[in-house]
Amino acid sequence: MAEAEVESNMNNGYILSDEILKNKINKAEFDYKYPHKASASFNDLELFTKGQPTNFYKELRENAPVFYHEPMPTDPEPGYWVLTKYEDVKYVSMNPKIFSSQYATGNLLTLGTEENRHPKLFKSTIDHMLNLDGEMHLNLRKEHMPFFKAGFVDDLRKKVSFKVTELLDNIAPMGECNLVKEVSQQLPIFTLSEVLGIPEADRQKLVSWMEFLELAQYFTYEMIKEKNEGKTTSTPDPEMIDMFNAMVDEMFDYGRFILNAKRKNPENDLLSAIANAKIKNEELSQEFLDGSWLLIIFAGNDTTRNTLSGGVKLLHENQKQKELLLSDSALMPNFINETVRFVSPVIHMRRTSLEETEINGQKIGPYEKIALWYGAANRDPDIFSDPDKFNILRENADKHLAFGIGRHTCLGKPIALMQLQEFYSQFLTRFNDFQMNGEWKVAPNNFVHAIQEMPIKFSPKK
Ligand code: HEM
Repeated sequence: MAEAEVESNMNNGYILSDEILKNKINKAEFDYKYPHKASASFNDLELFTKGQPTNFYKELRENAPVFYHEPMPTDPEPGYWVLTKYEDVKYVSMNPKIFSSQYATGNLLTLGTEENRHPKLFKSTIDHMLNLDGEMHLNLRKEHMPFFKAGFVDDLRKKVSFKVTELLDNIAPMGECNLVKEVSQQLPIFTLSEVLGIPEADRQKLVSWMEFLELAQYFTYEMIKEKNEGKTTSTPDPEMIDMFNAMVDEMFDYGRFILNAKRKNPENDLLSAIANAKIKNEELSQEFLDGSWLLIIFAGNDTTRNTLSGGVKLLHENQKQKELLLSDSALMPNFINETVRFVSPVIHMRRTSLEETEINGQKIGPYEKIALWYGAANRDPDIFSDPDKFNILRENADKHLAFGIGRHTCLGKPIALMQLQEFYSQFLTRFNDFQMNGEWKVAPNNFVHAIQEMPIKFSPKK
């Protein structure tokens, strides 16, 4: 579609990102109830390349369950409260009138300094439903609902099942592969494209965009490292940055093209629902269309992809549990719950206090920043006995908070669980002798547990 045509379809509508930039975040107003000298820092992204830092979570949970953390070096906002106890994470998630997702975004620890903001990515990380409170959030969420209901997910399951078979047919003769490249990143893109209504010919583009979006984390990481080391030159090659920017442009141009097409000729798919949704009785602004596009392709891809690879590693490391699962397929749903608890692919979300309040005895002033560390809450021994043990017989595995809880609970949960079920049941039937074949690789990222490589081997099949 020509650029002019895209522009002509734009309307003003509601723009959250303009509002948020005016809002100020306060530093901790009250004394610390749990003073503690931490042995590590969440700013050290290297910490996350070995899996989630469960020992550090334990240290904080035991010594300072509401801990005031220093900001990232590139963060213009002051520090933030880290919550590591299950009940605290739940309490904040269930009280959106005190703990807002909208005042300063619900999804990022930081908006970054102005000079570090990518012009398109920046606004789109804000203008979507994850960052809305109250009626506006509910209305937009309602528009998405039909595509996450049982009937829709059941129909989708048949297609997903065929796709899993096709992907496993491709790797069967190989005897070894990088599971991420061949399966984990392919399956969620297929599923999401079906939900969104993306034509088959365009789907591979999503694979490349996701790879480049992960680079965004890498660039930030390098910048922080160089700043810490006092360097003035930039490591990411300028050509690479140009390529990254071109890829981001392509991703948003495509999103605009397809959303505009669906606004004109709606079909029975999620993109048509988003394109025709309303906030405050107005069609979505271009900013909200861009943001909703980014949210759905990121939230729907990365999370399932990383749980899929993470579960394979857990089964490799826990052979007895694997045998148990192979001997009784009725354990599959609980195995998946336990895997999601253990992997917790979304590491944290964020809220902002709107008034003076208290969490677990710690007094908190208005407009302070609070991060909910799901991976830590999901290992709280007050809720999960022997929490670091991977136990597919665990009775309360489904109590985990990996999908969040409350008004913003993950919309894609039924679709994620369905994909995980279809994948593991076929994978374990066909490749029950699989082993890991070398080290995994995890991106330096404290927002999503991003598994980039998962080498496996198995007896080749025809
Ligand atoms: C294992 C897989 C997944 C995990 C662990 C996960 C986790 C989460 C979490 C933690 C939240 C935010 C909760 C909060 O702020 O309170 C969320 C929200 C969301 N997720 Fe997922 N997610 C997964 C898969 C998916 C999939 C497959 C889709 C789409 C097809 C999806 C779409 C969304 C959307 C649209 C929201 C925003 C909901 C709202 O603001 O009301 N997610 N997810």
